[in-house]
Amino acid sequence: MESRVEVIILAAGLGTRMKSKLAKVLHRAGSLTLIEHVVNAACTITSPGSIMIVTGHQTERVEELFKSRGVRFVYQKEQLGTGHAVMVCREKLENIPGRVVILYGDCPLLSPEALKELLKRQQESGAAATMISTELKDPAGYGRVIVGEDGYVRAVVEQKAATPEQLAIKRINSGIYCFQADRLWPYLDLIRPNNAANEYYLTDMVEVLHKDGQRVAELFLSDASELLGINTRIELAEADRVFRIRKTRELMLAGVTIERPETVIIDADVCVGMDTIIEQGVRLLGNTQIGEECRIGVNSVVENSVIGDRVHIAPLTMINRSHVAKDARIGPYSRLRTDNEVGAGAHVGNFVELKKTHLAAGAKANHLAYLGDSTVGEKTNIGAGTITCNYDGVHKHQTRIGKGAFVGSNSTLVAPVSIGDGSYVGAASVITNNVPEDALALGRAHQVIKEGWAAARRGKMKKS
Ligand code: UD1
Ligand code: CA
Repeated sequence: MESRVEVIILAAGLGTRMKSKLAKVLHRAGSLTLIEHVVNAACTITSPGSIMIVTGHQTERVEELFKSRGVRFVYQKEQLGTGHAVMVCREKLENIPGRVVILYGDCPLLSPEALKELLKRQQESGAAATMISTELKDPAGYGRVIVGEDGYVRAVVEQKAATPEQLAIKRINSGIYCFQADRLWPYLDLIRPNNAANEYYLTDMVEVLHKDGQRVAELFLSDASELLGINTRIELAEADRVFRIRKTRELMLAGVTIERPETVIIDADVCVGMDTIIEQGVRLLGNTQIGEECRIGVNSVVENSVIGDRVHIAPLTMINRSHVAKDARIGPYSRLRTDNEVGAGAHVGNFVELKKTHLAAGAKANHLAYLGDSTVGEKTNIGAGTITCNYDGVHKHQTRIGKGAFVGSNSTLVAPVSIGDGSYVGAASVITNNVPEDALALGRAHQVIKEGWAAARRGKMKKS
């Protein structure tokens, strides 16, 4: 029978090298916080109830992320080092037999496969612990791994404590370990903070175990990319790039065309249907869902929205928290601000802004309009320059426009107001009273013609 697996994730540090008020593990890469990536990976090898996160900075915000998942927390009041962070878990975990996997909250790229391999290696080796190592061309900042002739690890030397010869070692500690619980807890207290930083280094466990005749095995991964530890914003950007590549590849393999994928940003939870084409520079954010056979134009941003099949979104369009039904045409340069419903086959054109607006099937607002807090019936045409005056300086009011109506260009609809089905509003009208069905409403000064006036004026000007 496989033994039980407890996972400890160290996430208490502020992360001084990030130069941030935000705790390091709360920074985001590939749309999720670093700590969420690590918890997601941990969930592939054990149940959430067996995951313990060590928090210190911004504890409430870290806990908030996982409150519905049953993950456990322990508070490390003072950050006295990675070894100390494990010590604060002792009370809760010491009596649980089996294996203890330790992960650092700042290593978000770790794959479930590597974790499974680690557990397997630990099971097979019969060592006290197994640690994941790799080799880096530039190992600066990482602990260097010293391996004995028997293939077992002798020590991990931290950058700050390393001699020049040790600094030349390219084999580094990933910060991912699997311990036998009955070897971890008895030896942990033998770690001493006798280093320049005065910290309890978890990495000293290797030497502590070795000195007592215990073996520490190594799982060497030749692909270092998933072991990247985030200490600075440069590494954060690198991790983000890797997550974005993973996501676009996953979508391309599922039948989505992505032009210049390196320029496209797609968040972890986004779904995109088959045969959709995503043009350069697009961002699909939050829990956006895009249907099949859509086209999302250059530099458009779609956030927390649902887009039906065969919708065409022309370049430079922003859509936020809105629903666009199948076959609609949006953009270029449209803005669907929030809480909009655009019906099947409807058109929203350039420089049109919608907010809390329901545009029914087949309705069109093709140019330069603001429609806020409004409903527009089926097949109604909204002329260029139409504005719903939804705000009186204190309250917002509704505009209701029926179906099959025609609102002439440059109309000003002062809400609350309704425009009946099948009615016409003459161009440049200011509409303050309700318009009945099938009526014509004109709300503008009558045009005046003065024959010959201009010629007469020119004559006058010449004389003087
Ligand atoms: C650590 C390792 C180093 C390894 C590298 C891999 C140690 C001493 N060094 O160095 O060998 O190559 O990771 O990325 O372990 N933390 C706490 N409490 C503390 C201190 C740290 O929870 O008291 C957490 C941090 O929030 C962070 C993680 O532990 O998530 C690692 O700490 P960090 O300071 O980044 O360690 P490194 O210097 O990168
Ligand atoms: Ca680190």
